[in-house]
Amino acid sequence: MNWKDLYKSKVVDAKEAVSHIKSGDRVVVGHACAEPVTLIEAMVENRENYSDVEIVHMVAMGGSEYVKPEMEKHFRHNAVFVGGSTREAVNAGRADFTTCFFHEVPKLFKEGYMPVDVALVQVSSPDEHGNCSLGVSVDYTKAGAECAKIVIAQVNKQMPRTMGSAFIHVSDIDYIVESSHPIIELQPPRIGEIEKAIGENCASLINDGDTLQLGIGAIPDAVLLFLKDKKDLGIHSEMISDGVVELVEAGVITNKKKTLHQGKTIVTFLMGTKKLYDFIDNNPMVEMYPVDYVNDPRVIMKNDNLVSINSCVQIDLTGQVCSESIGSKQISGVGGQVDFVRGAAMSKGGKSIIATPSTAAKGKVSRIVPFLDEGAAVTTSRNDVDYIVTEHGIAHLKGKTLKDRARNLINIAHTDFKEELIKEWEKRFNAKF
Ligand code: COA
Repeated sequence: MNWKDLYKSKVVDAKEAVSHIKSGDRVVVGHACAEPVTLIEAMVENRENYSDVEIVHMVAMGGSEYVKPEMEKHFRHNAVFVGGSTREAVNAGRADFTTCFFHEVPKLFKEGYMPVDVALVQVSSPDEHGNCSLGVSVDYTKAGAECAKIVIAQVNKQMPRTMGSAFIHVSDIDYIVESSHPIIELQPPRIGEIEKAIGENCASLINDGDTLQLGIGAIPDAVLLFLKDKKDLGIHSEMISDGVVELVEAGVITNKKKTLHQGKTIVTFLMGTKKLYDFIDNNPMVEMYPVDYVNDPRVIMKNDNLVSINSCVQIDLTGQVCSESIGSKQISGVGGQVDFVRGAAMSKGGKSIIATPSTAAKGKVSRIVPFLDEGAAVTTSRNDVDYIVTEHGIAHLKGKTLKDRARNLINIAHTDFKEELIKEWEKRFNAKF
């Protein structure tokens, strides 16, 4: 059968598609802004026919109805990253959290740690060869579809067609649900004075020709504001958002000096507005690959002068970085932070930056602390950490004694907390600050 007839034979409505999910199945859901909203709504609608369906997801950008208390006997969410819509359920014990480096998530599916029964994905319309693009999320979504016994795809006419290794062929899909609706958007964050100061400090560590990884949120976006005078920057990043488009259009990001994938922006997923989605649609200058390639530290390191910029919750005076919990309360996950911290460490001329406001909770607490809160996860170890940046400056920790790294961290702490931190330093090192 040619692919066009094959395609037609697989088209069903959403209700029928989700009837192929069975009680006890493990369902992997397409990531972030590529969440197949129509399929999830249909699955939730069909809940009375299921018990104990496990839903594996990372950054859940939809409503995550399946974590509501009344869904408990039908669904159990297993989060590989905790986002805003699933945080309460994970911490209330109604959902689980599996900690895993982002680059190893596909391995969980491929090597039988988490066998996949069903993949719910969202893809573009097929091209003339029958290839659908996974669009804005290739990451673990592709591995989920490759490993699943049943693949249900929402073919969305509005899903952009991204390049690289973003494709799934019609013959590898079991059920197709057609739709046309806008892709979930992430609006640009508000960038205040503190974020701007942090952005400017980070930008001072970036040289012409460097290749960048930028995390999510206000700080990475603030860094981009201060890169307008740089030349020939490159991107090899887990994700990008709208800010990158402006720098490409301004001729700042050219990828010309990259030592891997020269001339190309390399990413594994995208979160932004239609402006970003239009920019990457059919754009051969942006290539998307699975996360076990993009985030593999052995791949990242092939980019000389790789600078990674991520954020955190708390840092102790020895340089242990917690980026995923407030005490024992899980608020996110390791994501790709350590993948890039390690890749940057191995890159010739590479640097990793953890950039954070010096305080949290409206200035009431210092993020630089003598000891991490009880139960806090060490996300980036003190052996991996390199630069810490706040609005008050830059602390370089790599290669420094415990005494010097603690001093450098205190120098970039907020003035309100310095006295207390200095007291701790003097007690710990039996010296005058
Ligand atoms: N003590 C108490 N509360 C704290 C705190 C601390 N030390 N640090 C943060 N918080 C609170 C904040 O006040 C904020 O509360 P609010 O929502 O009530 O305002 C909340 O926790 C979130 O903190 P914030 O720093 O504003 O979050 P963010 O959106 O900037 O994200 C991380 C920061 C660290 C959570 C995020 O970068 C992350 O998840 N990192 C790990 C994954 C990663 O780096 N991936 C790689 C790139 S995508």
